[in-house]
Amino acid sequence: MNVIRQKIKVAYEYPVYFTRGLFTDGNPTFDTCFKSAAAEPHKVMVCIDQGVARVWPGLARDIEMFFAARPSRFELILPILRLAGGEAAKKDWRQVNKILELAAERQVCRHSFLLAVGGGSLLDMAGLAASLIHRGLRLLRMPTTVLAQCDGGIGVKNGIDRYGAKNFLGTFAPPTAVFNDFDFLATLPTAYWCGGLAEAFKVALIKDAELFESLLAGADRLRRREPKTAAAVIEKTARLHLDHIRDGGDPFEFGSARPLDFGHWAAHKLETLSGYRVGHGQAVAVGIAIDTCYASRQGLLDADQRDRILKAMRQVGLPLWAPELRQTDESGDLAILAGIEEFRQHLGGRLAITLPKGIGDRIEVHEIKRAALHDVLDFLEASYAECTP
Ligand SMILES: NC(=O)c1ccc[n+]([C@@H]2O[C@H](COP(=O)([O-])OP(=O)(O)OC[C@H]3O[C@@H](n4cnc5c(N)ncnc54)[C@H](O)[C@@H]3O)[C@@H](O)[C@H]2O)c1
Ligand SMILES: [Zn+2]
Repeated sequence: MNVIRQKIKVAYEYPVYFTRGLFTDGNPTFDTCFKSAAAEPHKVMVCIDQGVARVWPGLARDIEMFFAARPSRFELILPILRLAGGEAAKKDWRQVNKILELAAERQVCRHSFLLAVGGGSLLDMAGLAASLIHRGLRLLRMPTTVLAQCDGGIGVKNGIDRYGAKNFLGTFAPPTAVFNDFDFLATLPTAYWCGGLAEAFKVALIKDAELFESLLAGADRLRRREPKTAAAVIEKTARLHLDHIRDGGDPFEFGSARPLDFGHWAAHKLETLSGYRVGHGQAVAVGIAIDTCYASRQGLLDADQRDRILKAMRQVGLPLWAPELRQTDESGDLAILAGIEEFRQHLGGRLAITLPKGIGDRIEVHEIKRAALHDVLDFLEASYAECTP
């Protein structure tokens, strides 16, 4: 037997900027990112989430003017695509195909850019397209929701929902840069504003007690969208998320454990059970409520800690219960329970579910006790039946 053992190390580096008015005159962020001169202008394709384009009607024009003012560096490919955003659009290839077709038609090269502006769903679709074109175009993300700015839009993954499973198709492909522009958050519907904060609770509960205390102390201000409080929470959450990807030892998730998916086994199942009526952030909130109560039943949190967590989540406007949690399957079992096995398959290998251990620390378990879970659902329904998405 002959063997050549191959080993490749690849380092990725990308900046995540926090700013306001990225495309306005005098904002140095974009030019800071592309300081060094280019031999020839890069082609830039742009796609905008239709939901964003609708409430920011001048955005496409601003982007056109912005690139027109930098002709030696960039060549904007028109038309700027307005693509359907939101989870419903992630269910098929249509939006991804529109990007692939424009890229082929306009003969982009591997050094061309795709600038994607929108919520986490649009960014996931655009990221998948970018990772496929010539095996990887340069992707610039401009997240426009709380969730995408602190979590979904800053990491290394993309994907679409196919064959009845969330993110069944997707790739790991780090972006070239991320531009978080807080101005966009002004037009976000309330459900998505609050929903995005679920990811802040997620990372706080398993990693950072101080962030949890600031979520609790600032809950009313967050609910009122007080800009300074919100910006601080988004930036801190993004930082914790990026630290985890960098230092967690498994950026491309080859193992079975995924701490940043705390609360997500139930969340992903709830999203599909609800036909995506319940958005990702709100589903994560319900998933966190379930796993928090389960952790408390297992002695990992005391009742006071559990109640403080649920209280803070309620106060920022997050749901803690959804009627879909009572749906049953053909065998009469609660349909949500199938989310445990589906989660295991998505991660691969042995079941690994992250639970909070106290506030700000975590533990991994390899089994969820069904009887305890039933008790948790009874408790949440009895206590928070009115706190639904
Ligand atoms: N790739 C990852 O690592 C990762 C991580 C977390 C979540 N996600 C994915 O992100 C998706 C959820 O993203 P989301 O919560 O950002 O919501 P979303 O992208 O589904 O958008 C929700 C709705 O808000 C609209 N919208 C977006 N920005 C707006 C704005 N500024 N003003 C008004 N409307 C706006 C959209 O058009 C859409 O209708 C899920 O599919 C989830 O799986 C991906
Ligand atoms: Zn999530």
